[in-house]
Amino acid sequence: MIEMIKVSRTYDPNITALSDISLSIATGEMFFLIGRSGAGKTTLLKLICNMETPSNGLIEVAGYNINKLKGKDLAHLRQKIGVAYQDFKLLSNRTVAENIAIAMEVSYKNPRTIRHRVRDLLDQLQLVDKHDTLTGELSRGEQQRVALARSVANSPRLILVDEPTGNLDASTTRRVMELLTRSNKAGATIVIATHDDSIYQQGNHRIMELRDGNIHSLTRGSLK
Ligand SMILES: Nc1ncnc2c1ncn2[C@@H]1O[C@H](COP(=O)(O)OP(=O)(O)OP(=O)(O)O)[C@@H](O)[C@H]1O
Ligand SMILES: [Mg+2]
Repeated sequence: MIEMIKVSRTYDPNITALSDISLSIATGEMFFLIGRSGAGKTTLLKLICNMETPSNGLIEVAGYNINKLKGKDLAHLRQKIGVAYQDFKLLSNRTVAENIAIAMEVSYKNPRTIRHRVRDLLDQLQLVDKHDTLTGELSRGEQQRVALARSVANSPRLILVDEPTGNLDASTTRRVMELLTRSNKAGATIVIATHDDSIYQQGNHRIMELRDGNIHSLTRGSLK
């Protein structure tokens, strides 16, 4: 699903956010990206969804060179990628339900399907009572879950989640991981950037640690 070959990203004046990263993530994999603050996790996710462009190297997503795609083709591929941003990027003057529905409206799902899917996601994330609340009035933990719901709503083939549980208690964290696991079992490839070792310790998923923009280690959950 994702193929990165010798990818680097630098920022002016001379910050190397990522350096010479080669990585391959299989379709259907759940992949964890760890590393201390500033290691390059968010930069890597942004490169995969074309929010940032690499300074060097090649990135293929679902067989397409994502930096060469333009117009309709790019829009089409982006529709198949759900992203839950570290800073959420919610529309603060819209309701919870509207924020989640947006992801589905661009692919022309009928209103009834959208309504049901929104309710179902809010139910899974214990946010049913916030359906009509403006997202600007939510706590950070609530906003985080709305961002997650929006990222999975359209059942994208690839889901990128940046720190999905940073503001959550243990039981809400479990619910978030159950939702992601369900999406993964349904076939989605998932890449999760996290500081929270409780969410990857038990599994047998691959875990890549970044350090100062380099791959420090690539292990499996059970090895920890
Ligand atoms: N737009 C930008 N302009 C300049 N420097 C940037 C920019 N975005 C990221 N960086 C730098 O690139 C490096 C990697 O940042 P990144 O956000 O990818 O880290 P991270 O691993 O996601 O950290 P965190 O755990 O705090 O979210 C940092 O040194 C950061 O300051
Ligand atoms: Mg980050």
